[in-house]
Amino acid sequence: MKFFIETIGCQMNVNDSEKIAVFLLEHGCVFTDKVEEADIVILNTCSVRFSAEHKAYSFLGRLKEHKEKKQDMIVAVVGCMAQYAYKEIKQRFGFVNFVLGAKRIDEFSKYISKYIDIKKTNPIEINKDKQFFKFVTIMRGCQNYCSYCIVPYVRGPEISLDYQDIVNEVDVLVKTGVKEVTLLGQNVNSYSNRGVNFTQLLQKISSQTEIENIRFMTNHPKDLSQDLIDEIAANSKICKHIHLPMQSASDNILEKMNRKYTYNQYEGLVDKIRSKIPDINITTDIIVGFPGETDADFEKTLNAVRKIRFGGIFGFKYSPRPKTVAYQLEDDISTEIKKQRLAVLLEESNLISKEINESYIGKIVDVLVENYNNKVCDGRNSQNIKIFFESEKSLIGKKVKVTVVKPLANSMFAELSI
Ligand code: SAH
Ligand code: SF4
Ligand code: F3S
Repeated sequence: MKFFIETIGCQMNVNDSEKIAVFLLEHGCVFTDKVEEADIVILNTCSVRFSAEHKAYSFLGRLKEHKEKKQDMIVAVVGCMAQYAYKEIKQRFGFVNFVLGAKRIDEFSKYISKYIDIKKTNPIEINKDKQFFKFVTIMRGCQNYCSYCIVPYVRGPEISLDYQDIVNEVDVLVKTGVKEVTLLGQNVNSYSNRGVNFTQLLQKISSQTEIENIRFMTNHPKDLSQDLIDEIAANSKICKHIHLPMQSASDNILEKMNRKYTYNQYEGLVDKIRSKIPDINITTDIIVGFPGETDADFEKTLNAVRKIRFGGIFGFKYSPRPKTVAYQLEDDISTEIKKQRLAVLLEESNLISKEINESYIGKIVDVLVENYNNKVCDGRNSQNIKIFFESEKSLIGKKVKVTVVKPLANSMFAELSI
């Protein structure tokens, strides 16, 4: 049987989709990238913003035609949106065979077993090309309840996975050739398992495995400790990049968002990080147009962006989400103003990233090569900046030194150094 997977949303979903794919491959299915040819179609959904849900509904709308032509096609909708909108999905798209929410994703095998024979297992060679980069989930769920965010409702409460299992998982990955892992959790800074905190988990992974690079996301300013900052500074396996969502620089808005820090505390944390790790790249998430956000509130965010000079910003227009506390507030900032604020923010941010990237010109940096396309290799440096350079495919998975030649939009072009 051929299967097709469409994934919307964050790395958590990418990781879940990969697990589903491995399961199907192990049970004799083969992957196809043509949805119309698939016997099994899996849609892994996200509900963080309305636009993500819209994508899922459009996909299902298009899928309807394929299903009409190929009546025995099995369609599964899984993930975060499936967790709370299952009734609507079932109602609007009667052809969907089953809907399975993110909290119960581990039960996928049980649900699919009605349709495929899961008794026979095939040892698989997942990819002819070796995989050098892997996500490792270290925590599930979230209980920070930022007032705008649906994640705690669709992913459930925060659970830290067993530290020894995580270390073992990384060890096994390294033995199959993996060079870099990205540890995933909605707030990795609050990791806690049998007395082991996040800093200690990083220490264990780096001392007990031969992994070359460790990345992690996401951080929460209220929980990022001095210990962690010291560990990142001292540990050469940990990449020098921290994604530290600020969301807003107006204390009034931060309070309404239930973020549990003030702008001054955020700025103080950035200063602490930079004084200890001078070559760190700090990136952030910002929401514009939260209910009640005035021009003055937005101006504060813009000024903070200019002052802090983030290496990169993910900017989002506020999107009211059912179940959340902010859903009770009037969504009073017009789409037009949200768009304008986002455009101003991103223009400012792109200008700053470009200036930061320009400061790399002529410098030699280490890149772990990820891809090869048409004579051009690409990978990321420790700071998580994408770097392109001309070379050969055989470099994939290797760490090389390159000299930066010129900055591109949000990336850099370089030459291989000898
Ligand atoms: N746990 C992570 C990621 C959460 S989702 C964290 O705390 O950073 C990623 C980003 O989506 C958030 O940081 C926030 O900026 C944005 N986001 C979440 N809910 C949103 C909403 N209702 N509207 C707009 N952006 C939202
Ligand atoms: Fe959502 Fe806040 Fe949890 Fe991040 S920390 S997932 S923004 S509730
Ligand atoms: Fe991720 Fe979207 Fe779910 S951001 S956790 S896939 S709601």
